[in-house]
Amino acid sequence: MARVVVGMLGLGTVGTGVVKLLSNHKHLTLKRVAVRDLGKERTVDPGCHVTDNPEEVVNDPEIEVLIEVMGGEKPALDLIVKAIESRKHVVTANKEVLAKHGPDLFKLAREKEVAIFFEASVAGGVPLISTIQKGLEANQIASILGILNGTTNFILSQMEEKGESFEAALAKAQALGFAEADPTSDVEGFDVAYKVSILAALAFGNFVKPDNIFRRGITHINSVDLEHAREFGYRIKLIGRADRQKDNVAVRVEPCLVPISHPLASVSGSNNGIVVNGHAVGELMMVGPGAGELPTASAVVGDVINLATALRLQDFASYFHSAIGAKWQEVTSADQWISPYYLRLEVEDHPGVIGKIGSIFGANQVSIQSIIQRGVADQGASVVVITQPVETGRIESAIAAMKSEDFLKNTGTCLAIFSNKNGAKGG
Ligand SMILES: NC(=O)c1ccc[n+]([C@@H]2O[C@H](COP(=O)([O-])OP(=O)(O)OC[C@H]3O[C@@H](n4cnc5c(N)ncnc54)[C@H](OP(=O)(O)O)[C@@H]3O)[C@@H](O)[C@H]2O)c1
Repeated sequence: MARVVVGMLGLGTVGTGVVKLLSNHKHLTLKRVAVRDLGKERTVDPGCHVTDNPEEVVNDPEIEVLIEVMGGEKPALDLIVKAIESRKHVVTANKEVLAKHGPDLFKLAREKEVAIFFEASVAGGVPLISTIQKGLEANQIASILGILNGTTNFILSQMEEKGESFEAALAKAQALGFAEADPTSDVEGFDVAYKVSILAALAFGNFVKPDNIFRRGITHINSVDLEHAREFGYRIKLIGRADRQKDNVAVRVEPCLVPISHPLASVSGSNNGIVVNGHAVGELMMVGPGAGELPTASAVVGDVINLATALRLQDFASYFHSAIGAKWQEVTSADQWISPYYLRLEVEDHPGVIGKIGSIFGANQVSIQSIIQRGVADQGASVVVITQPVETGRIESAIAAMKSEDFLKNTGTCLAIFSNKNGAKGG
């Protein structure tokens, strides 16, 4: 391998791991690193020029490969664009920039005949992206789905295993460094939505606009739901998925009841677990660390080594020509998604309430698989309904109709029940 000069934006969690791993590769020379605060104490010495001006890195003509591990949309996007315009290859872990600007970035990279590698942007240390791009190239992908956020999986695991509240589990995740001071992106499902957009691009050829992804977070889940789920034979997991439909793609991020017998239910703590369905390979699953200094750096440096190995090939540009398109992917309306549902309602403890719930479901063409009354709470009752597979729009109409009834004290929680067979109407 010829010597390749590398520059890096960011020396935080991932950047620190990258410095550690790059030091094992004498052909890869780290020339410049940009940080925000030059006065901050660092746990590694990158052994090169460190600057607080990222332009110095992207404007250095000797740097062939730019590693972007600073995160956030701006200024990362502008810096990546500048690097591509000056014909540098880019290795990035930045799911937000890719999901929001992927079509333009890949178009520009094609024009400039450079590559964008992004293994670390989804599932951290799990080599998911190279598996889809290379190992599964012969397949038509039907779906990619799974647990794509270690923070929320850790929180849900703590709530289930230790009986902790959402707030206590979040505080523990923050204390252990699994969750950021502002956890919104993780707990509201934005992080998973960005990853689903990237997975859709890999599997179906085009990114999905994050705003077009049906998204629910985990903040409304409570220990009662986890207990009910367990009684019915499920665990609650935040699931991101992209499914090929007849004419387009269905994309969703939502907490789901996953049957305990499904391998995804056993993915606990901060791990990620991803199931890929290919027409030739069938179903395969990958599990591993979705974040962390060295696991994520493993993906970043793996990309750099791959790039560096191929850089001197004559047909480099065609070999790494990305199949990702310059358009946004059309998506199925979220209302048309079909799934069985779990619904917990807090109701007045009056005779006839169950009958009224049944009538409202009937009027909205929702068939009930089972309905039970659980524990009397504050002079009311908790009713748990499991439905037959039904369109999301119908279950939402039924809930809306119940909200105008006097018997309803609180809508409680409505969660999809995970199945590989879920899909959109007509899909
Ligand atoms: N952490 C993970 O486990 C993980 C996993 C998968 C993907 N990722 C992705 O990897 C990227 C980096 O994550 P991280 O956890 O390493 O972030 P981090 O710990 O917050 O580090 C960010 C680094 O970028 C530098 N930086 C931020 N803004 C800058 C600016 N305007 N100019 C110059 N330097 C700037 C910071 O400088 P200072 O150090 O001076 O503040 C810091 O060194 C993100 O896109 C993230 O989504 C992270």
